[in-house]
Amino acid sequence: MVSLSNHEGDGASSSDRLRMRGIAEVRGEGTMDNLSSLKEELTRAAAAAADLAALEEVRIGALGKKGRITALMKELGTLSPEQRKAQGAALNVLKDEVAAAIEARKEALAGAALDAKLMEERIDVTLPARPESVGRIHPISQTVDEVVAIFGEMGFTVAEGPDIETDWNNFTALNIPPEHPARQEHDTFYLPGEVDGQRMVLRTHTSPVQIRTMLKAKPPIRIICPGRTFRCDYDATHSPMFHQVEGLVIDETTHMGHLKGCLIEFCRAYFGVDDLPVRFRPSYFPFTEPSAEVDIGCERSPAGLKIGHGSDWLEILGCGMVNPKVLENCGIDPARYQGFAFGMGLERISMLKYGIPDLRTYFESDLRWLRHYGFASLDMPSLVGGSYS
Ligand code: PHE
Repeated sequence: MVSLSNHEGDGASSSDRLRMRGIAEVRGEGTMDNLSSLKEELTRAAAAAADLAALEEVRIGALGKKGRITALMKELGTLSPEQRKAQGAALNVLKDEVAAAIEARKEALAGAALDAKLMEERIDVTLPARPESVGRIHPISQTVDEVVAIFGEMGFTVAEGPDIETDWNNFTALNIPPEHPARQEHDTFYLPGEVDGQRMVLRTHTSPVQIRTMLKAKPPIRIICPGRTFRCDYDATHSPMFHQVEGLVIDETTHMGHLKGCLIEFCRAYFGVDDLPVRFRPSYFPFTEPSAEVDIGCERSPAGLKIGHGSDWLEILGCGMVNPKVLENCGIDPARYQGFAFGMGLERISMLKYGIPDLRTYFESDLRWLRHYGFASLDMPSLVGGSYS
């Protein structure tokens, strides 16, 4: 009402006066005094909101489409330019202050809600786990740990490479040119399109990590590379995604005798059979020359398969002396350097060691399977204790 009387008789047109009277009568909140009491009322309401829902009500009542501050804003159009300027500025300040009060309360409520949640969900991490809810280590993780532990003791370090490879790293650099028959055997998954004029593939073996390592490191090199590999194949002994471990040694003196000694030692340590028969059979891989496949002794009986002395052999890995062409492709002088490489399927050696009959079950995410074949989380493999000693 104060504002209305201020404007009486100041030359405003009668329709202006009428409009202004209407505003003041309807809202009665537009004056400076009223604005400050409105601010007090709204900020107090915000501070007193007991929860987020109550706070939202305060916000809607003040700043929502039909809120009190919004209504005052809408009335600005009915004021004279001068009044509009002063009133607009005051309303903007009010709006900001009320919004800030709501925001502050929101943060306080969120903080309190988080505190309450944390209190409610508090757990004593020092309590022993319930036996029925203890997790198990997947046989592949366990096998990787075991293989890394054995080769680690021999001085190998672990190298890694990406699952998606260039055609060159996966094939060409490994002496498998485009028309080579070995390409067909690999049942490759090709990715659509090309990158820098090259087709990309899901790596069909871990051998491209040899290439990556030789391209960036100088000999001597002694690495193993465990990792995922992909081939379009699916039955009891094949899965489209499986794991291999690759090994590579390059220096000036390493020869076939070292290859044999290293792999015989590995097989005996991994299967935990000190006198395990191991034989090397001539074979062919484009990236090694000469090449061999390695068999271990076993006995097949109606009771099952037993690794060790027996009348039978089981193939477990491929190996050979690195083909000089591969060294050349990687910028390593084959007249000076030589070495060996090997590769094996991790599911295969884990199935043999732990008597797991079907490779597909490794990736079915069946918890009953994992409880049966999995390993205790603290069962760390080592050469002096653990699952293969
Ligand atoms: N890359 C071969 C395969 O996947 C295995 C292998 C690696 C053989 C290194 C020899 C040397 O079948």
